[in-house]
Amino acid sequence: MKITKANLDNKKVVKIIVGLIHEVFCEFNLKDSKDGLIKKMNSQYGKWYDYNATLSIFQKSPLFFIAKDRDTIIWMIRGTSEKILNLYVLKKRHLQWIGSKLLSTFESAAKKLWSKSLVLKASKYAVPFYLTNGYTIKNDRILTKQL
Ligand SMILES: CC(C)(COP(=O)(O)OP(=O)(O)OC[C@H]1O[C@@H](n2cnc3c(N)ncnc32)[C@H](O)[C@@H]1OP(=O)(O)O)[C@@H](O)C(=O)NCCC(=O)NCCS
Repeated sequence: MKITKANLDNKKVVKIIVGLIHEVFCEFNLKDSKDGLIKKMNSQYGKWYDYNATLSIFQKSPLFFIAKDRDTIIWMIRGTSEKILNLYVLKKRHLQWIGSKLLSTFESAAKKLWSKSLVLKASKYAVPFYLTNGYTIKNDRILTKQL
């Protein structure tokens, strides 16, 4: 497995990431999500998403990493030096510590940008994962970690 920065100039890469987010969200997070979030996820990553609009959302994330298994992109994480916005791992590679490796790559990169802490809104499914990785609950599903 190789973790690299996502090349958002490559249309194919962007499309694969969009497909990955949508697939994993539908499989693991849909049933626990409110209508507003489902609508947002569908418009940004669903079948009829607007490529340029989603690309410009992606471009607002200074930290954006993907992981590849040979040449296949199967994991992604994105956010800012203060906030994690998305983290998705394909089902067939869950519980192989890949999410944790992506997370620690993200944390190191945030630290290099002088960040002192990270915050995120976790999906219900992912709360135990973040607790295992040293995050603490601030409020409901808002989690944080000192770097
Ligand atoms: C959450 C997610 C990113 C975790 O990725 P992963 O690669 O499977 O996680 P890891 O293998 O690094 O997990 C490390 C540890 O966290 C814990 N953990 C991970 N997922 C868990 C889960 N769903 N329930 C309970 N514990 C979990 C386990 O203790 C695991 O250690 P173990 O294998 O020794 O039991 C992945 O399950 C995913 O993509 N989920 C769907 C999308 C999602 O909810 N994303 C988060 C949005 S905020």
